[in-house]
Parts: sequence; structure tokens; C-alpha cells
Amino acid sequence: MKSIQRRDFVIGSLTSLGSLIALNGRADAVLSAVLPETNAVADVSAGLNALAYNVAVLGDTHYDAEPESVYHSHYDESNIHSKVQHAEFKRNGAMWRERCPKLLAASAALARQNKTDFILQLGDIIQGDCDHVPTHQKMLDDCIKMLKKPYPGDMPFLTVVGNHDFRGKGARKAYFDFAHPFMTAEIEKLTGKKRKKPVNYPIVSFRKGPDLWILCDFERAMLNKICNIIDKDATARHVFIVTHGPFTTYANTKSYRWRLGGGTRALESRQRLFDTLSKRRGIVLSGHTHSTTYYRFENSLGSFCEFTGNSVWTEKSPTDATPKNSTPEEYTPAERFLKMIRNKDDYYSEINFFKPSLKEYYETRAAGHYRLKVTEKSVEMEFYPCDAITPGRVFKLK
Ligand SMILES: [Fe+2]
Repeated sequence: MKSIQRRDFVIGSLTSLGSLIALNGRADAVLSAVLPETNAVADVSAGLNALAYNVAVLGDTHYDAEPESVYHSHYDESNIHSKVQHAEFKRNGAMWRERCPKLLAASAALARQNKTDFILQLGDIIQGDCDHVPTHQKMLDDCIKMLKKPYPGDMPFLTVVGNHDFRGKGARKAYFDFAHPFMTAEIEKLTGKKRKKPVNYPIVSFRKGPDLWILCDFERAMLNKICNIIDKDATARHVFIVTHGPFTTYANTKSYRWRLGGGTRALESRQRLFDTLSKRRGIVLSGHTHSTTYYRFENSLGSFCEFTGNSVWTEKSPTDATPKNSTPEEYTPAERFLKMIRNKDDYYSEINFFKPSLKEYYETRAAGHYRLKVTEKSVEMEFYPCDAITPGRVFKLK
């Protein structure tokens, strides 16, 4: 594909944080030697910083810890999903013991090198399933501290609500009691302005310099309201929508309707958002599918992109950026998913809403970290598989 290109990078043959650690024993020392520490806020004037900026992007992180008793000692074993959820606790524990700390360190090292303005996490920041409010609050608190720690300074940290973030007894209130003041403070730190109103989901919007950012609760946000916010801001240079559940139907899941605008009542407003994004060349950033996926749409109104990130680095995750699917024709489920889909007519009606306009498609189950590079004229997403410090792919979002 034309817009996906391999890039040379400054760090020669050392391609992953793991290889650095293996060679030198201590990641901190090695990284500070290889990647000089800089601070975006200190080094760049406010005007320049607003026009061109970098964002360290993390997909779903499902923060958790071993043993299960750390966060799940109150877990209600009568839960009908307990078998699956215990398997997830095990997956998360192993992931956060070894792999994800390396992924995080690699992202932070790049953030130091690239004058990064903020960190963006795409939802499902925690596993949830505590069934105990103080434990759920502690899981969130521990997670935020741990994720922020390796990045330089007190870098603003934005996260969008995901379905796991409030999963468990009493967790919905616990999450939003945390998220509303936390996101208010982080957005104010990022923009340098006091908000007129504190953050209040389901839709959060702000200007980062010339760009409009909209973060939404994908299960509750009304698409018409998102369109109204975009229409009202006619002069925004780039329009970003951040939603945990994707806007575009993910092909390889039986839960293909569990997304932003996936309900049958959203048929009209979905078309309106699709058209609005096309006219404004919008950019949708999402998570949830545990895949790294890129879609570029083009139609008579214009074009837009969606990019889905994934930081759930399991032992089965592919370790490089080789796609499983890489052409629009391949935007269809793998045989094993198709077997799980009960109403195939309904599934294909969803796929066929998007497919005619799909001009570029890339999909892999690989996990990693990402860097959003925003300039006056372009927006790119760099994909670093696992703990890589050289990009495996670069996607042109605008
Ligand atoms: Fe999710």
C-alpha cells in the first residue's frame, strides 16, 4: 500500500527495548544513553507546540497483577463469565509481569526523544472485575501511577472510557468518580486553560491548539451530538474522535455490533457521522478489538481514517508488523469467526456499509505502542510492535 511505508530510524540495529536490556542489563541507563531526555513543554514555544506535536499512544492495557488476590479477592465467583474472566486475570498477570513493562518503557523512551505533548490511552486501561469499590479505586490509582511513571515530567495523560474500566459491582460510579476530575485536570494541564465546565461523559471535547479532540463513551454517546460538535467547530484543522469501541465494524469478531454507533437505532446518525468525517477528513482512534487495524475510506464527500491500537501483548501476539490482512478485499471475517456469527445477513449488512468506501485496510493481532505525529499538514501514526523502538509501519491518517 502506498501510504504504509517502512522507515529508517535513528537507532541503528537496536530494534527493541528487550534487546537493549539484554545487551546492557539496565534499561534506564541504556535508554538515557541512546535517547537523550527532552521535554516538549520546556523546549518548544506554545505556538509551535500547538501546530506540531507528538502523542504517545497506548491501546488497551488491561492492567492487573498477580496473584489474583491483589485485585480479585472479592470477585463474585457466581458470575456466569467467571471461566473466561479467570483466564483473562491469568493472561493479564503474566503480561504485566514481563512484557507490558517493557512495552511501556519503550513508549516512554520514545516520548523522551520526540518531544511528546501527552499520552493517550484508548480505553480498557484496567481489567476491572474487582466487585469491591475500594479495590476498583485502588486498581485505577495503581494503574495510572504505574503508566505515568516512566514518562518524562508530569506529562498529561488522557484515557477514554472502555467497557472494562467500570466492570464489576459498584464499578461504574467508582470509574466516573475517578475519571471526571482526573480528565478535567489532565486536559487543563494539556491545553493550559481552565475548562468552562468540568469533564462529564458521555462526550468530552476540547481544542488542542487548532485541532478539535472529542473523546466519547462509545456505549452511550449519541452520534448526532458528536456531529453537532464537529459542525459547530468549522475552523478546526484536524478533527480527532477517540472512542474505545471502534466506529468501523471490526471484521473478525462475533461482537461486531459492540462499537460506537453499532446499535440498530443509530442507522441514520451513523450515516451522518460517516459523512461528517468524510467532509472534514476526520481521524478516529479506537481500541477494544485487541488488534492493530487501519482503515482509510474515500467517497464523493472526501475521505477519513480510523486507527485501532492494541497494547495487550500476550504470549501469542505476533511480534512484528506483518499484516494478517492488507487489502480492502480482505475486509471480511476469517472462517473461524464467520462460524461464530449467528445472523450472517446482519453481519454482512454492517460490513457492507463500510466496504464500498474502503480504500486501504491493514489488520493484525499484533500489539505494541504507537506515536501519533501531528504536523500542520499531515497526521501519521507510527506502529512499534511489542517493545520495539523502531517503527514497524507508518500509517498516513491525513
Ligand atoms: Fe473493550
